[in-house]
Amino acid sequence: MKKSALLIAIILVLIQFFRPEKNTSEQPSYNDNAIEKQYKNPENVNLLLKTSCYDCHSNNTHYPWYNNIQPLAWWLNKHIVDGKKELNFDEFNTYSLERKQKKLSEIIKEIEKKNMPLYSYTLIHANAKLTIKQQKEITDWAKKLKANL
Ligand code: HEC
Repeated sequence: MKKSALLIAIILVLIQFFRPEKNTSEQPSYNDNAIEKQYKNPENVNLLLKTSCYDCHSNNTHYPWYNNIQPLAWWLNKHIVDGKKELNFDEFNTYSLERKQKKLSEIIKEIEKKNMPLYSYTLIHANAKLTIKQQKEITDWAKKLKANL
């Protein structure tokens, strides 16, 4: 019993040295391909997306305290890598017209099904939780942008 506890402690110490590379870029959102640079989104929508989505769907994550602890940082990093692959608001303008439309439809679908932001994320980032009104602000915006692309 004591031996296995010691082994686990040693492993926990050792894994602290293996940190994933951070998702941060030099120029926060001055990138011309960012969705907010390309379209005149309502300010409240930009703010909601930043608070609730950008940690996993942009080129700049605001890292929480638990990113200093493994394996929590690995777990967060996996969400960032997978999330960015699906949708990156900072690269939105590099997408083809079809892909933009598809992503906006997916945003509507994911929000309506309450899949996004990920539930596990909202447990720690309570401010990322969307009220019904905020959900509607995002889906109304996405529908309008999709129709006007
Ligand atoms: C904690 C990280 C995280 C946050 C925060 C987050 N997402 Fe995601 N998102 C993911 C991951 C991981 C995937 C890919 C795997 C999956 O679909 O679960 C994804 C996938 C998606 C997809 C593609 C789904 C599909 O149909 O394949 C959309 C659209 C999306 N997210 C929108 C959003 C929006 C909008 C927000 C904010 C309201 C948000 N996400 C917040 C991690 C996140």
